[in-house]
Amino acid sequence: MIPDVKPNSVLYLSGVSVSFDGFKALNSLSIVIEPGELRAIIGPNGAGKTTMMDIITGKTRPDEGEVFFNGNIDLTKKDEADIAQLGIGRKFQKPTVFEGHTVWDNLELALNRRRTVFSTLFYRLSGEDKDRIEEILETVRLTHRRDELAANLSHGQKQWLEIGMLLAQEPKLLLVDEPVAGMTDAETAETAILLKDIAKTRSVVVVEHDMGFIRDLGVKVTCLAEGSVLAEGSIDFVSNDPKVIENYLGR
Ligand SMILES: Nc1ncnc2c1ncn2[C@@H]1O[C@H](COP(=O)(O)OP(=O)(O)OP(=O)(O)O)[C@@H](O)[C@H]1O
Ligand SMILES: [Mg+2]
Repeated sequence: MIPDVKPNSVLYLSGVSVSFDGFKALNSLSIVIEPGELRAIIGPNGAGKTTMMDIITGKTRPDEGEVFFNGNIDLTKKDEADIAQLGIGRKFQKPTVFEGHTVWDNLELALNRRRTVFSTLFYRLSGEDKDRIEEILETVRLTHRRDELAANLSHGQKQWLEIGMLLAQEPKLLLVDEPVAGMTDAETAETAILLKDIAKTRSVVVVEHDMGFIRDLGVKVTCLAEGSVLAEGSIDFVSNDPKVIENYLGR
């Protein structure tokens, strides 16, 4: 008997397919993410990695398959705003911070997004909020740059700030697409540590092509190709799989 993993998982995708003009971007994709899990997703260009995130966040509707969050919440019945509200945060590749505002103000703005119009109208930053911002600054390695304009941060620091802004929304699941592209080696190494820290209190799914970074993460890896799972397991297991070498690593 197949155990029913749905009730205990943060994310449960089963048999998810979606086509664009007859091209199957996802082809019966199944993937399960556990609470507190950090999962790395690799695979060649066009494998469907970003499309998978589009499905999870409600940007794209699957033609077939099941998508459940936190046990029994059917994400295929929710729109993008509902899904964000449920606690799924997504980091796109390009950082979208407010360049003309300080690091601190960016985080404060992100914290405020949670509030209703009414509470924002009568809003003063509480001690609790300040503590939370301090905590996020620590997590994303920006405490020493808190009063700097976001425009003056390095590319890597902007990526971290945006991750911090997502953390302000307290997501249960954070989806991160190619975070280390364009980062320096030192920033890339730091990002691995940072994401591991974040995954202590929530689940994180990270897509990356940088295999050194994936190895640094030291977590379960899923390799996608042609819209489904090609191999899944430790980095050593996956990177020694002949299908993964043929379709991705050996290219
Ligand atoms: N909204 C869309 N409309 C049409 N085609 C799409 C759409 N989204 C994705 N595709 C196609 O689906 C396929 C999978 O794309 P996807 O962006 O998911 O790949 P990926 O694994 O993220 O690749 P990369 O590593 O290059 O980012 C590609 O052929 C892409 O052109
Ligand atoms: Mg992509």
